Amino acid sequence: MQSEGSCGQSGATRDDTSGRGSPDLITTEEQLDEVLTRPCALLTKTVRQIESPLVIVGAGGKMGPTLAVLAKRAADASGRRIDVVAVSRFGNGQIRRWIEQHGVKTVACDLLDPHSVAKLPDTGNLVYLVGLKFGTRANPPATWAVNTLVPAAVCEKYAGSRIVALSTGNVYPLVPIDSGGSVETDPLTPLGEYSNAAVGRERIFEYCAERYGVRVALLRLFYATELRYGVVRDIADWVYKGERVPLANGWFNCIWQGDANNMILRAMELTTAPLSVWNLCRPEVFSVRAVAELVGHQLRVTPRFSGSESGTALLGNARKLCAELGPPPTGIETIARWTAHWVSIGGRTLSKPTHFDVRDGQY
Ligand SMILES: NC(=O)c1ccc[n+]([C@@H]2O[C@H](COP(=O)([O-])OP(=O)(O)OC[C@H]3O[C@@H](n4cnc5c(N)ncnc54)[C@H](OP(=O)(O)O)[C@@H]3O)[C@@H](O)[C@H]2O)c1
Repeated sequence: MQSEGSCGQSGATRDDTSGRGSPDLITTEEQLDEVLTRPCALLTKTVRQIESPLVIVGAGGKMGPTLAVLAKRAADASGRRIDVVAVSRFGNGQIRRWIEQHGVKTVACDLLDPHSVAKLPDTGNLVYLVGLKFGTRANPPATWAVNTLVPAAVCEKYAGSRIVALSTGNVYPLVPIDSGGSVETDPLTPLGEYSNAAVGRERIFEYCAERYGVRVALLRLFYATELRYGVVRDIADWVYKGERVPLANGWFNCIWQGDANNMILRAMELTTAPLSVWNLCRPEVFSVRAVAELVGHQLRVTPRFSGSESGTALLGNARKLCAELGPPPTGIETIARWTAHWVSIGGRTLSKPTHFDVRDGQY
């Protein structure tokens, strides 16, 4: 097994991943998954305090598989026997098999079905990843159902537990780019049905946490990125194919998915009643144009652009969480280098664009 990675506790925001045993380039999915599921030392310490099992609901999506395997590797490194149980519908059997091959137990469950929820294993520690975003325009009721009914059912089932629940930066409106990004206490007044259903998800957690005595850390994530999907992958695809990079939404936040998952699991220590809220991303705001140029430099391609930057963007300020857990160690230069190389060698894509360029809330 590889050594544990940095948790970003140095206080530095520099790009320090490559100096700590991370590769210069990533060339296979096996290597990518190994990097994404590498526990940092402080995560191993957190996991040592967790009672078995750790249950992860909504584990069949883009983040859940590597998060579940990361949790299992951290449990193994801690020397404790902790079962990690991944719960999802697992419409994709390949994902379920991959998770199981890495020592994680799985339970197939439609969380909208109360009988199935009742049969889930009991736990005092749960990570909540369930969400529905894309397809909202065609079917808003499904988005509202998944994002509001499921949290209520899960909080009722897991009354008295600790829950790290994923929310999204989409709960905020667009803000001026020189504002430093929305902070956790800002009003939640976004555009569009998905974003408002995500506000609904938060409010249900807030209500149920109090009603059922659940301790919750709510994490508003702004774009996890890895090599198979994410904002940097979207930009790299456009640049590599010679397509124009849209600039209207000219600024964004993101975080390497391995760092996000380490922080999500460590946030078990931040669960409180009433719930606490944290923005989750790297501390910097990134320019689409600059990241396209960084990726273009790696690919030896001059990026082409369309439109021009607006004065506002969907931006978050993650200072509070970075002060608590330390800044995420993987910097944008590393992410851009890895992603550009991955695209240039025809590395697999999930074909799930982020649509980070959407400004009217229509997903
Ligand atoms: N990835 C990001 O960059 C990002 C950014 C901001 C916020 N977030 C938040 O972080 C969370 C995890 O992100 P993600 O990218 O992994 O999301 P995702 O790809 O949409 O995965 C969520 C998973 O939840 C499961 N799910 C949905 N309805 C369910 C149901 N009725 N019963 C059981 N499982 C159900 C689905 O897996 P099955 O098909 O297996 O059921 C789905 O793939 C989401 O809640 C999202 O809002 C993510």
